[in-house]
Order: sequence, then C-alpha cells, then structure tokens
Amino acid sequence: MNDILAAILRRRAVKTFETVEIPPALREQILNAARHAPSSFNTQPYRFFWVESPDRKAAAAKLCLGQMPAQTASALVVAVADVGSLSATSQSQLEWMRGNGFSDEKLRDYERTAKIGRIIFMPGPFGIFGALKWSIFRLVNCWKIMGMPPVSRPSQFKWATKSASLACENLMIAAEALGLNTCPMEGFDGRRLSRFLGLSRRHHEIVMVIAIGKKSRSCVEPPQWRRPLDATVTIL
Ligand SMILES: Cc1cc2nc3c(=O)[nH]c(=O)nc-3n(C[C@H](O)[C@H](O)[C@H](O)COP(=O)(O)O)c2cc1C
Repeated sequence: MNDILAAILRRRAVKTFETVEIPPALREQILNAARHAPSSFNTQPYRFFWVESPDRKAAAAKLCLGQMPAQTASALVVAVADVGSLSATSQSQLEWMRGNGFSDEKLRDYERTAKIGRIIFMPGPFGIFGALKWSIFRLVNCWKIMGMPPVSRPSQFKWATKSASLACENLMIAAEALGLNTCPMEGFDGRRLSRFLGLSRRHHEIVMVIAIGKKSRSCVEPPQWRRPLDATVTIL
C-alpha cells in the first residue's frame, strides 16, 4: 500500500505511551510537516507550543485533566488558533515575495489583498465594526452570490481553527509516518492552559492538545469503528 495512505489508516488515538525522547531533528520534521498544511489565504493563523521539559509537561498534563495520554506522552503539542498574527504574517510574506523576484504588480496585488483582509478582520471596540460589517455583507448577500467573511471574533476563531486543525492532522500523520504515535485531546482546562502558556484572550484560542510519543507495548486499542461510507458521504 502507498506509504502515506498506510500511515493514515494505521494512526490511532493512543492512550498510553512509553518514555522515549524525541530528538530535535525528528521534532522539527514533524512540526515542519504541520506547517505545510493548506491554510485560508495561506495565513497560517496558528501557533504550536511543543511542551517537552519534564516539569512543564507535568504541569500541562495536569491541565489536560490528568488524562493518561497526556501524563505518559514524550511531549504535548498545544495547537493554538492565532488571529493576532495576520499583520506580521502578511508582512513576512511580502518580504519573502520581494526577495524572490515577484513582479511589482504581484507585490501591489498582494498588498491590496492583505489590506482588505486587515479591514475585514478589524472587529473594532466591543465588536462594533464587526457587527456593522456583518450587516452590510448580509444585505449585499441578498442579491449577490458571495461568501461571508469572518468579521466577528468568534467567527474569526472558527475560521482560524479550520486551518489549525488541518495542520494538526498533518502533524499526527507525519508523526505516524516517522514511527511515533499521537492522541488528539480536547479534554483540557482551556482557561488555565492558556494562562500557563501566556496566551492572549483577544488573539488566541486553544484548538487541541496532541499527546505525542511511542505507543506503550501494553496499550491495546479497541477495534477501530467508523460510520459506513454512505452515512458520511453524499455523492451528487
Ligand atoms: C477534536 C478531538 C478531541 C479529542 N479529545 C480526546 C480526549 O480529550 N481524550 C482522548 O483520550 N481522546 C480524545 N480524542 C480521540 C478520539 O477519542 C479518537 O480519535 C476516536 O475515538 C477515534 O479513535 P481513533 O482515532 O483511534 O480511530 C479526540 C479526538 C479529536 C479529533
């Protein structure tokens, strides 16, 4: 079977890990695979916190409700939707474009799109601009076919979470392909974990925590069940 497909089909949410150290080169390969995931407008609106130092890992595991995968993992990867990174990201991409021979026209196009993006994303004090923009877009949508951009803070977090989740899946498949195992978790105390990581309530929201390590030999997963294909797919 194709290696990528095999890693996808082999991956399981592992509940107990053995104590192994993940070498920095392997860690980098896994994180690199994560950031190669597609993202909305290539904005990559997320940040990963790789928690591996024993004391910090133990503290983070406690905030993951002391779950066994968190307690036994070699590292905990906290995936954070980051809606405050957009200006820095567009600036960074612009610099990259300048250094890579993009035409002036392409640079201008990109700058214009980034500016429009910034205006759309600005929720204003108490979300006032967001509500106003939402009303305008909704009105225009009555007669024009258009997608609704994420103008409010909650919709921006939802928007960023989609891209972050794709990066999480890349991370888990990469780990599997490289001989490690994972367990995605949403069982955590988001408020305390955010404080522990020094996150901003305005810009950051934790999407999931991924326990990563080598599956314990004593760990036996139950048979994997999935809904039948016709229950999850509609072919038109
Ligand atoms: C968003 C999300 C949150 C999850 N949260 C937890 C969790 O907190 N603890 C846990 O042990 N497993 C968690 N899981 C793992 C699922 O229980 C697991 O993926 C599912 O039962 C299917 O098993 P499989 O991945 O081995 O096929 C989570 C999975 C996802 C995608």
